[in-house]
Amino acid sequence: MSAQQERTFIALKPDAVQRNLVGEVIRRFEAKGFKLVGLKLVKPSVETAEEHYAEHKGKGFYKGLVDFITSGPVVAMVWQGKGVVASARKLIGATNPLTSEPGTIRGDLAVDVGRNVIHGSDSTDSAQREISLWFKEGEIADWTPVSNAWVY
Ligand code: PPS
Repeated sequence: MSAQQERTFIALKPDAVQRNLVGEVIRRFEAKGFKLVGLKLVKPSVETAEEHYAEHKGKGFYKGLVDFITSGPVVAMVWQGKGVVASARKLIGATNPLTSEPGTIRGDLAVDVGRNVIHGSDSTDSAQREISLWFKEGEIADWTPVSNAWVY
């Protein structure tokens, strides 16, 4: 991975899987120009969910969030590209879909904050932590596109 490139962790939550939105969200990331380097469908354990959301322990929504994320399969992904951590958050939109801008994933595809389709790491440090929580080393593929000339 070149110095300019970074990685982020993206999870499509159980509502995205149930609502058949997986392809739509992946399409948006691919169309933007980011590269998919990790992908799996997994029903997270309570331990994984609690560790993932550890910083929110004690908040009113914490238990509901852990119950929700463990309620069904999640599509866990790692995306790579220039500025992908911050850019993914822009593609995703604000936490509450009622105030997310149209054109964003949540703004276009969701209504309820407790069913907001997607998670994206909020910093490069969080991305590193979340990628190593959800993926083992051999599960990430660093492949080379035939040409990146039209993206970069
Ligand atoms: S905070 O308190 O500002 O740090 O919270 P925020 O970063 O906005 O959200 C942290 C994660 O909690 C989810 N969230 C909620 N889930 C259910 N119900 C309510 N009311 C709620 N509020 C916040 C939010 O989607 C974040 O999870 P991820 O998976 O990162 O989207």
